[in-house]
Amino acid sequence: MSKILVTGGCGYIGSHTLVDLVENGFEVISVDNNSRSTPRILEGVEKITGQKIKNYKVDLCNYDDTFAIFQENTDITGIIHFAAFKAVGESVAHPVMYFENNLMSLLNLLKCVQEFKVPYFVFSSSCTVYGNPDVIPVTESTPPKPAESPYGYTKQMGEQIINEFAKVSDSQCVLLRYFNPVGAHPSIQIGELPIGRPANLVPAITQTAIGKLPQMTVFGNDYDTRDGSCLRDFIHVSDIAHAHTLSLQYLIDGKSDKACEVFNLGSGNGVTVLEAIRAFEKVSGQALNYTIGPRRPGDVIAIYANNEHAVKELGWEIKYSLEDMLDTAWKWETRIREDESFYLVQNANLN
Ligand code: WQD
Repeated sequence: MSKILVTGGCGYIGSHTLVDLVENGFEVISVDNNSRSTPRILEGVEKITGQKIKNYKVDLCNYDDTFAIFQENTDITGIIHFAAFKAVGESVAHPVMYFENNLMSLLNLLKCVQEFKVPYFVFSSSCTVYGNPDVIPVTESTPPKPAESPYGYTKQMGEQIINEFAKVSDSQCVLLRYFNPVGAHPSIQIGELPIGRPANLVPAITQTAIGKLPQMTVFGNDYDTRDGSCLRDFIHVSDIAHAHTLSLQYLIDGKSDKACEVFNLGSGNGVTVLEAIRAFEKVSGQALNYTIGPRRPGDVIAIYANNEHAVKELGWEIKYSLEDMLDTAWKWETRIREDESFYLVQNANLN
């Protein structure tokens, strides 16, 4: 049974990927310092899979502590690296914190990949590397443009670091560029737990709908799109998770002839902010209290994926519709509303 190290396993996409890996026969361990997550989410993973997942509460920016994990687990076949700070707005306010955290952790991991000869490395990247594309949908060969935030730069720089590493390493790497991951596992045992006021659209919608936020703001409706609001490619988090399992299998089966390969993980459908709100109102059966506000600095106007490479090479089949994404997100919000301990995590003061 191949053992996979998942960094950020207590996080949103990390926890969903732990579930998918276990359900597909992999042995998994997590490393997560819980600076932006709670180990409580692993209870949900255990409820779904029936397996207790070991989490190493380690800061990957500490090389010695990271190295010790590999000394204890010399049989790691692959690594999926999620652990990173990911709030666009926060990265603008705290650029050095973002470059240090997101790049130091990556460099320490790659040194361990080299030292312990870990065969496969999968990196959590983002469509943010495309910046504001001139042509949509974007393919993996669409040239990256200057990032719109320090967060985006850490993803672009992370890809470059891994590319150069892969050229001189025996390990094979995959870069997965997520579009907008939303929704919750259909069991509603795990989901997104944004800390503090949510920056992302769908948690802002569900927290407004449940009354945790008084009102949400649509950041601009004067863009050159079909209804004036920004256009995005929403993709269910469980579909994203399964693409990670497929990527590892693709590498293990020797199907990649590249040192480093890129895949877009998007639905291939463009949906505007206002269309997402309409879809939520239909799914939830309630009107959403929102207002139109000024544009948000750094926002990409319109982007969605050409996902044919992942569909063809990985055999990736998208299971969930936009309605499924919004329905599971709403059901998850309703569930955590009933469990104060989850909100304690969300209201944690960020230092
Ligand atoms: C989507 C749209 C907002 C909140 C970023 C990162 C990406 C990934 C996801 C980590 C935009 C609008 C939002 C609100 C709004 N990060 N919006 N009111 O910026 O597309 O992507 O987060 O994995 O890498 O770049 O996602 O959900 O923040 O915004 O109108 O209260 O919703 O202006 O147009 P984004 P988002």
